[in-house]
Amino acid sequence: MKRIAVCPGSFDPIHNGHLDIVERCRPLFDGVVVAVLQNEGKAPLFSVEERVAMIEELVAPWDDVRVESFSGLLVHYMDEIGARIVVRGLRAVSDFEYEFQMAMMNRHLGPRVETVFMTPREEFSFLSSRLVKEAFSLGGDIRGLVPDLVLERLDRRINGER
Ligand code: PNS
Repeated sequence: MKRIAVCPGSFDPIHNGHLDIVERCRPLFDGVVVAVLQNEGKAPLFSVEERVAMIEELVAPWDDVRVESFSGLLVHYMDEIGARIVVRGLRAVSDFEYEFQMAMMNRHLGPRVETVFMTPREEFSFLSSRLVKEAFSLGGDIRGLVPDLVLERLDRRINGER
């Protein structure tokens, strides 16, 4: 049986901390699925199609990684694709409580699913999509924190065509 790691998230947008975790999964699992939550209720900056397209472009060199979107419960989606391993990045102790609750809820809802935590490279340990958007929209330099492609899309979305 293939061991497929599912990396779920909002990815609005994806940043280098996320990509670091996906890259770290590759030697450990037979395949990786980046699963983008269709969370239109949260008024995302990028539509789910835009987020999926961006990530697809970024992971294109890795043929063991695929990108999909999902809605509803993560454990139902995992059943549908026959996966049982969720990988979540843990940046700091402050992430732990939320991640612990989510892992326990997922275990309650889908006992076959195991959550594995991985830590990103230290230089990305403070990164979040929310802070990336905030810093960029206020004129901050976020080069090196997101891929160039994401920087371009953020520029277009936030500053518009110039
Ligand atoms: O990047 P995020 O926003 O921290 O990712 C959160 C995500 C998408 C992993 C989580 O919200 C999720 O799995 N949502 C799907 C709904 C679900 O399964 N909820 C029950 C588990 S708490």
